[in-house]
Amino acid sequence: MGRRGRRSGLRGWWNWRCARGFGGSIRRTSGGINFEAGVGEGLAAAYRAGIVTRDDLFLQTKFTYRRGQDDRLPYDPGARVAVQVEQSLAGSLEHLGTDHVDSFVLHGPASGYGWTDADAEVWEAMQRERDAGRARLLGVSNVSLRHLEQMIEVHSEAPAFVQNRCYARLGWDREVRLFCRERKIVYQGFSLLTANVEVLRHPVASGIAARANATPAQVVFAFARSVGMLPLTGTSRAKHMREDLASCELKLEPEAVGAIESLAG
Ligand SMILES: NC(=O)c1ccc[n+]([C@@H]2O[C@H](COP(=O)([O-])OP(=O)(O)OC[C@H]3O[C@@H](n4cnc5c(N)ncnc54)[C@H](OP(=O)(O)O)[C@@H]3O)[C@@H](O)[C@H]2O)c1
Repeated sequence: MGRRGRRSGLRGWWNWRCARGFGGSIRRTSGGINFEAGVGEGLAAAYRAGIVTRDDLFLQTKFTYRRGQDDRLPYDPGARVAVQVEQSLAGSLEHLGTDHVDSFVLHGPASGYGWTDADAEVWEAMQRERDAGRARLLGVSNVSLRHLEQMIEVHSEAPAFVQNRCYARLGWDREVRLFCRERKIVYQGFSLLTANVEVLRHPVASGIAARANATPAQVVFAFARSVGMLPLTGTSRAKHMREDLASCELKLEPEAVGAIESLAG
């Protein structure tokens, strides 16, 4: 798929997300915290029950290097990383009962210091998977500004998504978000609640929440959207999912957005 096609696909997805709120983000990491085949079983049950169709969903999975995996490896550890990418995605498609995912993300670069040759090999393999129609959009996760700057020096194509843990005390990842905004990359913020417990408990957030008849969690998600993030939620409860979705209706005043942003360290 060419750049234009990917962008228009992204727009469609963005509208879908804005209309319906948070979508499904499926991690393919160590088996202890993620069980992708279980997600596939859940999806199959939802399709059978007529609750959703595949077209209603945005499915996102990841490629994770060996060091981020447990013993249930989704690929041959002796193979080149490019082959591991193919094997990993093939396994995900089988688990999820689909012929394509909507987004395929590099879970984290090989080194914390910069974009390596291994990352370049993985990214090119991911592009081939995308070009073969097995993934619509590509992303990278757990990246610094340095990773991104080096990445776009090496590759002609920027990611469609950057997915980062977003800490208020680190300025809500401001530099990376700015990089993304300038390049029309969608910034997916995760652990917005778990990484920012001090914000949820802060009188500024609880005051805004009380005035808006909302919860502090909803205020954090509304803030995230206000500053251009696509918030991800990790809830396992229907009640919280409903609240998280309802936060899409919550519009914060610019003063409230500024006040929450200024809670940054
Ligand atoms: N790229 C990566 O390395 C990476 C790593 C971690 C996560 N992620 C992605 O990011 C997503 C979110 O991450 P996360 O799980 O760390 O984020 P999170 O949404 O900050 O944390 C989830 C926790 O927040 C609680 N919660 C959610 N909505 C709530 C609400 N309205 N009120 C009160 N509590 C609420 C959940 O409890 P309940 O279950 O009780 O609702 C759960 O304990 C994940 O689904 C995953 O796809 C990516």
